[in-house]
Amino acid sequence: MTYNLLKGKTGIIFGALNDRSIAWKIAAKAHEEGAKLVLTNTPVALRLGTLEKLAEDTGSQIIPADATKSEDVENVILKSMDILGGKVDFILHSIGMSPNVRKGFTYDNLRYDNFLKTLDISALSFHKILLFARKHDAINKWGSVVAISYVAAQRTLYGYNDMGDAKALLESIARSFGYMYGRDKKIRVNTISQSPTMTTAGSGVKGIGSLLDFTERMSPLGNATADDCANYCVTLFSDLTRKVTMQNLYHDGGFSSMGMSLKAMTQYDKSFNNCD
Ligand SMILES: NC(=O)c1ccc[n+]([C@@H]2O[C@H](COP(=O)([O-])OP(=O)(O)OC[C@H]3O[C@@H](n4cnc5c(N)ncnc54)[C@H](O)[C@@H]3O)[C@@H](O)[C@H]2O)c1
Repeated sequence: MTYNLLKGKTGIIFGALNDRSIAWKIAAKAHEEGAKLVLTNTPVALRLGTLEKLAEDTGSQIIPADATKSEDVENVILKSMDILGGKVDFILHSIGMSPNVRKGFTYDNLRYDNFLKTLDISALSFHKILLFARKHDAINKWGSVVAISYVAAQRTLYGYNDMGDAKALLESIARSFGYMYGRDKKIRVNTISQSPTMTTAGSGVKGIGSLLDFTERMSPLGNATADDCANYCVTLFSDLTRKVTMQNLYHDGGFSSMGMSLKAMTQYDKSFNNCD
């Protein structure tokens, strides 16, 4: 079902790698809702992933960019305005990577050069996008900027490593920049805290299968999928949420408010027979 929520709107999507990516689903949904898009990812991701297919399906152009490089981010902002015919209405940051997680350095033994890269890729890139968007006045009044976060910003989840710190910083940037962008330009900045999701980045999280099982048992509505996230995200890009800003918005089936559920307890206490 479509609602034309983004009819006449334009946006930039950072972070679609393949058809499992959260950004891919958001781009596809935004297109379905009437938006025109520019897509961007790193040159390596463009080689290894399938972004061309998404570009074809949505009639979008691709601009290669490493979001840790200021000049690349500035280029995306400027070229997108050229391609889309002026200021945009929304931007999605759906970027995350930890070299410590990739290389198996645990949190109590991590490499600081890797740690800095984790923060640079997964959080400072969001600041850069906001900075250059603002510098070039690239977003229309009442526009919306969204980044994808995770509950590890608030809670400790085994194996999530320095990505938890990166997500805490990401959410803080949304608040700090959200204040300035809201005050001066009436532009919203929020993060969506998404359930664990089986994507390329998600599969890198230690014990993702067990984590998905745990959060499914703990969440009264069940885990939110990438498609669910796309549905939620287009409402945040739309005019229906104009006064929502500087928020970290949980989109996790209720997980973040739970302490213990019957379904989870049943896993541990064999005296329970009924687990509805
Ligand atoms: N999958 C999950 O369980 C989950 C849960 C909550 C939040 N998230 C967040 O959602 C976002 C998207 O991840 P995903 O799960 O869709 O996985 P994904 O692997 O499909 O997307 C991650 C993206 O980050 C991009 N990226 C990495 N380094 C980059 C750089 N230097 N410049 C530009 N792009 C770069 C990758 O190319 C990739 O497209 C991430 O921020 C992730 O932390 C994921």
